[in-house]
Amino acid sequence: MGKDIFKAIRSYFEMEKAGGISEYLFSSKAKDDKILPLRDEAQKCNKCALAKTRNKVVFGSGNIHARLMFVGEAPGHEEDIQGMPFVGEAGTLLTKIIEAMGLKREDVYICNILKCRPPKNRNPLPEEISVCIDYLYKQIEYIKPEVICGLGKFSSQTLLNTETSITKLRGTWHEFRGIRFMPTFHPAYLLRNPSAKKLVWQDIKKIMAVLK
Ligand code: URA
Repeated sequence: MGKDIFKAIRSYFEMEKAGGISEYLFSSKAKDDKILPLRDEAQKCNKCALAKTRNKVVFGSGNIHARLMFVGEAPGHEEDIQGMPFVGEAGTLLTKIIEAMGLKREDVYICNILKCRPPKNRNPLPEEISVCIDYLYKQIEYIKPEVICGLGKFSSQTLLNTETSITKLRGTWHEFRGIRFMPTFHPAYLLRNPSAKKLVWQDIKKIMAVLK
């Protein structure tokens, strides 16, 4: 009987963790009250056709008190299976970048522009972005990070409302609704172009300088 209760509690926290609340015990009630209903709403979302092809909604994961938020493009194959952002090959590289900053994944918050995987990892469509982006705006509003790092073209162009190329955007500070925004190359791009890693590291060092 006693064991069953512990099992039930553990599986509840595991469920919360899978849904992106890994700092549950330390979360402030006010933030939970906003983020959890938003996550639940996203889990049921069928505002666009991706609802029919997705396996899991990938809402976001990490610390809702994070000073730093990473925003990628959209879930890929592995993320769609696990319901967690950046857990595939590009995710392994992002984790290395976070650790090279002296942080852990649990210290930051990681999410995407789209919460569902586009079939065959095609680019997000403008209409998908426009119906999905409100989830991200609210995540940013509730978490209130000090710095947002835009991973790649889609994230950076969407949040900065520009068509300027990522090559031009990266490496300099921008602003999203009063929050410092640093665009950099997407980890998947780095897998194809390892020589660009040094540029990303330059951008990351600028973030570290701000966060000290
Ligand atoms: N690429 C992204 O942009 N997001 C993920 O979650 C995984 C890969």
